[in-house]
Order: sequence, then C-alpha cells, then structure tokens
Amino acid sequence: MASKAPVVKVEHVCKDYKLGEETIHALKDISFNIDDGVFLAIAGPSGSGKSTMLNMIGCIDTPSAGKIVIDGVDISGKTPDELADLRSKTISFVFQTFNLFPVLTAEENVEYPLLRRSDVSKSERKERVAFFLDTVGLTKYAGHRPNQLSGGQRQRVAIARALATRPRIVLADEPTANLDYKTGESILSMMKAINRAFETTFVFSTHDQRVMGMADRLVRIEDGELTTLGIRAGNVWKYVKEKDVPIPTSDGEMAQLLKEDPELRRMIMEDPELRRALLDDNSAAGVAGKGGR
Ligand SMILES: Nc1ncnc2c1ncn2[C@@H]1O[C@H](COP(=O)(O)OP(=O)(O)O)[C@@H](O)[C@H]1O
Ligand SMILES: [Mg+2]
Repeated sequence: MASKAPVVKVEHVCKDYKLGEETIHALKDISFNIDDGVFLAIAGPSGSGKSTMLNMIGCIDTPSAGKIVIDGVDISGKTPDELADLRSKTISFVFQTFNLFPVLTAEENVEYPLLRRSDVSKSERKERVAFFLDTVGLTKYAGHRPNQLSGGQRQRVAIARALATRPRIVLADEPTANLDYKTGESILSMMKAINRAFETTFVFSTHDQRVMGMADRLVRIEDGELTTLGIRAGNVWKYVKEKDVPIPTSDGEMAQLLKEDPELRRMIMEDPELRRALLDDNSAAGVAGKGGR
C-alpha cells in the first residue's frame, strides 16, 4: 500500500551561531516531519529561529547537530554542488522582500530559474512561464518590471517563479510581512489554492496569528525550542504535542481527544508517518493499540 512518506524529516536539529565569545543557540533539538502536500506554518515571535529553520530545510545552511532528510536523502555530508542540485530540482523559495530582478520583466523573472536547467527545453520553458503567470493571475502584466507592479503583484511573480521549476517544496519566509493585511491574506489564499491544486508542499514562516490560521499543520518555535506541533481537524486546531503540557497518551488525554474527534482519529490512524510526526513512539504505539480494539 502506498504510504505517504514525509517529504522532509527534521531530526534533533541544533544550530549554534558564534558571535565573538558568545554562542547563540538558535535552534535547540528540533524534531518534526513534514508530510507531502501539507500547508505548514512555522510560527513564533521575531528572533525565535524561524528563518534559521527554513534555511536548514532549504539546504542554504547546515545544522550544528542533528540531521535533515529531504525526499529520503540525508543532506549532511553533501557537497555544495550536490546541495545546489537538490535545491534547484526540489526546493523553491519565496521571500519577504520578493527578491525580483528589477531590470527583468515579470515574465523574465519567472523564466530565470529555468535558464540554467538543461533538462527543460525552450518551448517547455515558455509554456511553463505562461502557465504559472496565468496561475497567479498576471498574464496581463507579463511585460511589466517589478517597479511597475504593486507589492502583492510582485509577490505573485515571486510565487510563479518559485513554481516554475515544479518543486516538491516551496519555502516562504514571512511572505506576507511586507504586505497590507488584505493583500497578505489574498496571497496566502492563492498559495493554499496552489497547494491543493498541484499538491506542492508549502512551508511558510509567520509571526501573524491570522496568517497561521490558514495552515493545516503548525510548528511553533519559541527561543529556538519547538513548543507546539499542531494539526487541523476540520476547522479546529488540535495541539497534539505541547511543551510543558504532558504529551497525551492513549490512557489519558489522547484517548479522550480521539474519542471526541473521529476526524482526528481517522487522520492519525490512517497515517503512520503522521503518528510518528505528531506523537512520541510510546503514544504512537498506544494509539495504534487503541485502534485495534
Ligand atoms: N548569521 C547569524 N549569526 C549570528 N546569529 C544569528 C544569525 N542568524 C540568526 N541569528 C540569531 O539566531 C536567532 C534566530 O534568528 P532567526 O532565525 O532569524 O529568527 P526569526 O526568523 O524567527 O526572526 C536570533 O537570536 C538571531 O539573532
Ligand atoms: Mg526571520
């Protein structure tokens, strides 16, 4: 039976930065899985380690300890060339400040990452550019330069550019932080529609409560520590694991939670990877045992 493997595994990842005499522990023993096709928010206040986490997942930086597995490939010990290759085929980025080339048109910006791809023919390239500009609703603006576009339109170009390589994962570091609320919300809605339509995994960071509300998985980081892993069941967030709150077990909270919420139960029962992602091994066994009865 085809079981959905996580597209990313973060295993006991630590990241230290040396600043003179001082060591900053930017990430402290973070573990979680990212299932294929999810719309996942990394939330937390400014300085909590969100960008550091995204940079690890995006192979831009490497952990001080622990490992990251992307699409089944452990990225520790990969050469910079191998990492660049993995990145160019698997991962795309969307940035807070859009990072478009000011001298290129919208169309040329979207085309840019494909120019280095020898496996994409010119006609395929042109087709993809047109397709993804249309996906983000900017066909009419193909010939405009970034300074002729609004902030929201620029971010749409950046999203089309991110999609053009057909990545498995789009990483977006505070993609709405430079946009007004309404525009930010429409960008997020568009990202979610793309996530659903193309089954592209989206991982975005935010410190905005309202933006988090659109995710279906939540990883909360505070001061470098993972404090919450959550999944959404219907319209309700279930915090399955929270720091300083006992992890629910089949004997206690978890059983109650699952009893009260058949949808959550179904989601967890049907997906062993999700069980592993959301529960520690003991409680995962507990849930499995419970389901057998
Ligand atoms: N290159 C770096 N050198 C030193 N410290 C850094 C570096 N990048 C981030 N930090 C520190 O790591 C912590 C987490 O930063 P960051 O991941 O940027 O947080 P966030 O994105 O949640 O605002 C902060 O204390 C920040 O100052
Ligand atoms: Mg940041």
